[in-house]
Amino acid sequence: MRTLKLALAAVAAFALDANAQTAVTGMGGKSVTPPSGMYQQPAVTGSQPDSQAFHAGGVAACDGCHVMHNASSGVAKSTGPTSQVAPWTNVTNAYLLQGTDQSSTCLVCHAGAKAASGNQFTIADLTTGTTPPTNRTPGGDFGWLRSDFDWTNSPSQRHGHNVAAADFALAVDPDLTIAPGGTWQGGPGRKQFACSSCHDPHGRYRMQIGTAANGIAFAGPYPGSPATLPIAASGSYGEVPTAAYAIGTYRLLAGQNYAPASNTSSPFPNDPPVAVAPGTYNSGEGTSEVRVAYGTGMSEWCQNCHTNIHIDGYTSGVAGLRHPAGGEALFHAGQIQVYNTYVSSGVVDSAATSKYTSLVPFELGKSATLATLKGAAVPNSIIAAGPSANVMCLSCHRAHATAFDSMVRWDQNATFLTDGVNYTNGATGSATVVTTGTAGARTLQQTQAGYYDRPVGAGTTAIGTYQRSLCNKCHGKD
Ligand code: HEC
Ligand code: HEC
Ligand code: HEC
Ligand code: HEC
Ligand code: HEC
Ligand code: HEC
Repeated sequence: MRTLKLALAAVAAFALDANAQTAVTGMGGKSVTPPSGMYQQPAVTGSQPDSQAFHAGGVAACDGCHVMHNASSGVAKSTGPTSQVAPWTNVTNAYLLQGTDQSSTCLVCHAGAKAASGNQFTIADLTTGTTPPTNRTPGGDFGWLRSDFDWTNSPSQRHGHNVAAADFALAVDPDLTIAPGGTWQGGPGRKQFACSSCHDPHGRYRMQIGTAANGIAFAGPYPGSPATLPIAASGSYGEVPTAAYAIGTYRLLAGQNYAPASNTSSPFPNDPPVAVAPGTYNSGEGTSEVRVAYGTGMSEWCQNCHTNIHIDGYTSGVAGLRHPAGGEALFHAGQIQVYNTYVSSGVVDSAATSKYTSLVPFELGKSATLATLKGAAVPNSIIAAGPSANVMCLSCHRAHATAFDSMVRWDQNATFLTDGVNYTNGATGSATVVTTGTAGARTLQQTQAGYYDRPVGAGTTAIGTYQRSLCNKCHGKD
């Protein structure tokens, strides 16, 4: 059978010119572009915003990521441009993956420019050089790790989590080899930092009905709280678990004791965060915001690798402080008042409209239910800061990548975020005024893309004129 398959493959290759053949990656079928419109309908009606289910909150069809013999319908199924595995040999990559490594496998479908309509799930526009990446997801486009606006102190690897993906020419961070503040460490080959270091590729962690303040209990493939229900839908869009089924964790994020087969040395101590994303989550914020309603647990989840950066308790004026970030890092009266009245530098307004901005999000707190979060994850909802609001890592950082050093949401090296009234001198943070487009400078377009296409001045989502650091959104020192 195997010989026959190979023989057929060879004939087909000869007939069609082997060199012109491209491996058919992703889900089955003959399409070589990331498949669209060929996934299943969600099992729970309305649970998947784009009405197509691949992961559906748990493990997806194995064939989307794995390949058993590197051949389907006589065409090679795995391999990317630089793969070690040649087509037609019928052997496959490690773990029978379609891509050379874990992240390359994910990027078979997740790389690409933002789709004009429909699909939301592209998160890495890697074709960019001087033009900005096009995806505007809450996590941030991995294309910022490619963006060519380095000047001396801002090499591109500083802009995000450097996952290794050989087929897409993404390499691990040459400087930071251990998660700062912790001990999590990648290694050679399959041990490298990957999408699957954070997301469980098999989506085995789940949310069931529970007794926590937000009504949730995490369950997973670990002793102590083993899963008792099947996962029926994604846990990212506000679907609630029932007595009949569980839902996935937010963004398939891994939980307690997660230690992938490729790198078992640092099992996670903490469970995933609770949050709800809107259905349209990959969208510029020029006129309206993409608001993820964060509930609780994000900082504790980042703490899985960055052990010592997290802090809850806090006393002003003592030494040994880190900036508060955690489920107990509550806003105090001062921050509540400032957040709810701050418009932009020098502009304060106490009218009861929402002053929430997705550039400086906070968590709504431990008792926010999925239903509450779903109600808040829409553009013009009133999300007011209150005594249960808390600071989290993503108040200042994004999870994947940004246009700025240390993967922060706004430029920490800029006194004026947009150079005052427009983005003209795009290279904010540079000591010298750099002409737009000069090699090495962050261009006007790149800066504006870094702020998710916001205008300066007028507009619902605009950045105010002469806006200074957004630390002021909570602290009002401007
Ligand atoms: C979204 C992509 C994806 C899907 C879908 C997927 N896998 Fe995997 N699988 C991976 C990745 C990535 C690894 C490597 C994990 C690591 O680094 O240890 C892996 C590893 C494995 C391994 C070996 C390591 C281990 O964890 O035991 C087995 C066995 C496996 N998968 C089985 C399956 C089966 C069975 C299915 C379908 C029910 C499936 N996978 C679906 C991505 C996927
Ligand atoms: C065969 C194509 C394909 C591959 C390969 C693939 N994905 Fe996906 N992914 C999708 C599609 C389609 C969606 C949107 C529909 C869905 O979530 O079911 C998606 C959505 C997601 C989401 C959001 C899910 C949610 O419910 O919030 C995450 C996170 C994700 N993928 C991670 C990964 C990771 C990590 C890998 C590699 C281990 C991977 N994907 C591999 C097609 C793919
Ligand atoms: C350091 C951990 C980490 C790594 C590495 C990582 N992710 Fe994520 N990812 C997250 C978190 C956290 C979120 C939720 C972000 C939010 O909502 O603010 C997320 C969100 C997503 C989403 C939803 C869209 C978005 O950007 O908000 C997709 C799809 C996704 N990840 C896929 C991937 C793929 C594919 C890779 C590898 C190329 C990857 N992730 C690597 C932590 C990670
Ligand atoms: C109040 C804003 C803020 C919060 C909250 C915050 N950070 Fe940061 N983080 C920064 C800034 C700004 C930097 C750049 C270095 C600096 O100024 O200290 C940074 C730098 C880092 C670095 C890079 C350190 C290095 O050696 O390069 C890591 C890692 C990090 N933060 C992780 C986290 C994690 C994990 C959390 C949540 C537990 C968190 N941060 C919460 C603002 C914040
Ligand atoms: C699986 C482990 C893991 C998790 C979980 C994780 N990180 Fe990291 N993080 C790393 C590693 C490893 C590095 C260093 C390599 C790099 O920068 O790519 C890093 C680097 C960083 C940096 C410095 C980036 C730079 O180059 O200056 C920041 C900031 C950061 N992480 C924030 C976060 C935040 C916020 C979260 C939670 C949303 C998080 N991390 C979750 C492993 C992790
Ligand atoms: C999402 C809201 C938020 C953001 C954004 C934020 N902070 Fe904070 N910050 C807090 C809270 C809450 C505390 C704890 C305050 C308290 O206990 O009174 C705090 C504490 C501090 C303190 C210690 C104050 C003291 O009395 O000792 C400093 C300094 C500080 N923040 C600086 C910053 C800087 C710099 C940034 C921007 C990089 C920033 N903060 C961004 C909410 C925020």
